[in-house]
Amino acid sequence: MSSSHVSPRLPDFRLERHFSRWEFTARHHLTASDAETLTVAELLDLGTDADREAFAALRLGYIETWGTAPLRAAIAGTYDACGPDDVLAFAGAEEALYWLMQLLAGPGDHVVVTAPNYQAVETLPLAAGADVTGVPLDPQDGWRLDVDAVRAALRPSTTAVCVDVPNNPTGALPDQETWRALVELCDEAGVRLVSDEVYRGIELDPARTLPQAADLSRTAVSVNVMSKAYGLPGLRIGWVACRDRALVEMLERHKHYTSICNSGPGEFLATVALRAREEVLARARRIVAENLPVFDAFFARHDDRFAWAPPDGGCVAFPRYLGADGVEAFCTELVETEGVLLLPASIYASEVAAVPADRFRIGIGRRNPEPALAAFESFLTHR
Ligand SMILES: Cc1ncc(COP(=O)(O)O)c(C=O)c1O
Repeated sequence: MSSSHVSPRLPDFRLERHFSRWEFTARHHLTASDAETLTVAELLDLGTDADREAFAALRLGYIETWGTAPLRAAIAGTYDACGPDDVLAFAGAEEALYWLMQLLAGPGDHVVVTAPNYQAVETLPLAAGADVTGVPLDPQDGWRLDVDAVRAALRPSTTAVCVDVPNNPTGALPDQETWRALVELCDEAGVRLVSDEVYRGIELDPARTLPQAADLSRTAVSVNVMSKAYGLPGLRIGWVACRDRALVEMLERHKHYTSICNSGPGEFLATVALRAREEVLARARRIVAENLPVFDAFFARHDDRFAWAPPDGGCVAFPRYLGADGVEAFCTELVETEGVLLLPASIYASEVAAVPADRFRIGIGRRNPEPALAAFESFLTHR
């Protein structure tokens, strides 16, 4: 049978489809969600002599499905209430989300997701036959998370509430009180909170860093990864932390059908990075802090075309495009003529909630954004 007879089992992951086309061909990647990365040598420099020797001597066999003991200990060290046994390593946050959604959302189940969101948490439950209710973050109010709207969306069949904090693409963070109210609501309702925390750790105001869901609740799942705040997506090392052992064990049994185990060098290097966590995160925070005035100034110069607000956390923002041509045409022309890659709002369209159609995602976590912004500016000037 020819390949034309193969039909998709899942709808397109819009963001990844767009990146497949543009991520490595556009001249300026101005929409990256990962903080500036490190080389292997720079990362190993953060370790000890013993780490460098052990890395060179690492045997390239299979490793534990759970993740190596040093990695799980290093991850557990980033939580207050979770120990190594509450941690399961995955190939990125993506594999973790995949299996969480497979286990938590099937026919007859109901899932609540905030929107805009990382598409996997909405598309996977829908594709699995679950009902999904979207709770929009309020664009008029700093993308506020409305806990009452989450409460109103709950049903007896609700198995999960999925949030990402800080949010992709808006960079929004709930305040501490709202966050605790959401965790309590889920606990009282007996609904599992799935909290994607991949942008945690680079809040400009450290007071806004939220406690991790798995520390606050015995059943909540914290999903995290080395990709974003740590700037190490090439390692492909993510994890779940959750004190409900039955769920974590079930996830481990399902992981045997996808990656089986992570890359050994990836887990080794992730362990080195997590041991130097404060330094790695401080570096990313510094880059964002240096970049912010540059982006503020850019958008101030073009306030007739854009409505800009910096993110509360993480390194992406979702400003508004005010032009009459619409943000889709604008982003297409920008990448095709000047090679500047942004993500137009359609990437974040939701099947279950209204998401503003006049926004675009921009990344502020990469070093030296000036050439990309100069190309962007030249486009605006000549248009
Ligand atoms: C909110 C969110 N969750 C999960 C992921 C997946 O992370 P990874 O690519 O490291 O698996 C991403 C990546 O863009 C993301 O933005």
